[in-house]
Amino acid sequence: MRFIDLFSGMGGFRLALENENLECVFSADNDKYACETYKLNFNEYPLIDITNIETKDIPDHEILCAGFPCQPFSIGGYRKGFEDIRGTLFFEIVKILKDKSPEIFILENVQGLINHNKGKTFSTILDFLANRLNGLEHPSTNKHNLGYNVFWKVLNTKDFNVPQNRPRVFIIGFKDPEVNYDFPTGIERTSGLEDILDKDPEIKRISDQSYGYIHAFLKEHKKNNLISQLNYLIAYEIRKSRVAFRFDNNSPCLTTKMGTGGNNVPYLVNQNRFFTLKEGLKLQGFPENFKLTNNYSASLRQIGNSVSVPVVRSIVRNILN
Ligand SMILES: C[S@@+](CC[C@H](N)C(=O)[O-])C[C@H]1O[C@@H](n2cnc3c(N)ncnc32)[C@H](O)[C@@H]1O
Repeated sequence: MRFIDLFSGMGGFRLALENENLECVFSADNDKYACETYKLNFNEYPLIDITNIETKDIPDHEILCAGFPCQPFSIGGYRKGFEDIRGTLFFEIVKILKDKSPEIFILENVQGLINHNKGKTFSTILDFLANRLNGLEHPSTNKHNLGYNVFWKVLNTKDFNVPQNRPRVFIIGFKDPEVNYDFPTGIERTSGLEDILDKDPEIKRISDQSYGYIHAFLKEHKKNNLISQLNYLIAYEIRKSRVAFRFDNNSPCLTTKMGTGGNNVPYLVNQNRFFTLKEGLKLQGFPENFKLTNNYSASLRQIGNSVSVPVVRSIVRNILN
C-alpha cells in the first residue's frame, strides 16, 4: 500500500509506516531544517509548501498521513463550509482528500484540538470528514462532507512503552463504511527512563539562576526530599514564579518550544543536566541510529514536533489487521 506524508517534519509517520512495509510516494514540509533531517534518513528533501501544491501533482495513494499544525479557524458563524476553513492547513488536507480520495487517512494533533474554541473547531473538522463517527451515523449539515467512516481517540505515548507523557488525538478515516476500527490500547511497559538515558551523555547544565528556581520551588513546597527519594525527578517550564515537575518515571511532553532551548528543555534534576538530543529521539520512539543534523535547536524543535513512532505503528498494525 502507498501512503503520503504531509507536514512530514522529521519523518515520524514515514518511519512507522515503512516499518510496516508500506511505501511512501510523496512527502511535504516547508521547514528546510526538518527537510534536511528527512533527507539524511530517507534520502528525500521534501521542501514543499502544501498551500502551493496542486492535487494533480500528488501521486495516487491509499493512505494519507498528516500531523497537521493546529491553527485557529476563521469563524464565519461556523457555517461549516469551506469559508470557515479556507486559508488553514486543514483546508489543504480536505482538498487533497476530496481530489485524491484515498481509502484511509490518519491525522494527528494536540489533545487541545478537541476543546479548541469550545469544541467548535473539532466538530467542524469532523463535519467535513465523517458521515459515520466511532461506529455510529454522523449526520453532517456540511455540503462538502467527504463521507468517511471516522474513528478518533486520544492516545498517550507513555502507554506505548515509551516514557513520555504525550496525549495526542488521532483521527482515522476509512472510505469503507463497513470497517469497525479498534484503536490499540497500548504496549506492555517494559522500559522506563533508565532505559533511554545515554550511557555517556553530553552534559548541558541549566543556568545557576534557573537551578536556583528549581531548588527554591522544591523547598517552598517542602519537597526537597524528593531529590534523594527519586532517581528521576524532572523539572520543566522552569520559571521564577513556578516550576513544573514529573516524578512518575515519564518525561513531560516534548514540545516545539524546546527549539528555543534553555529552560524549555526538560531537566533531569538528580543528574543535573538537560535531556540530550539522543534521549529526545528515544522519548519519541525513534531508533538510536536515526540521524540528526548538527543544528541543535532545529533538532530539538523537530523532536518536539514529531509524532511518536510506536504509537503510529500500533495504529497502522490495527488497520492492516
Ligand atoms: C506537528 S509537525 C508534524 C511533524 C511530523 N508528523 C513528524 O513526525 O515529524 C507540523 C509540520 O508542518 C510543517 N508545516 C507547517 N506549515 C506547512 C506548510 N504550509 N506546508 C508544508 N509543511 C508545513 C512544519 O514545518 C512542521 O514540520
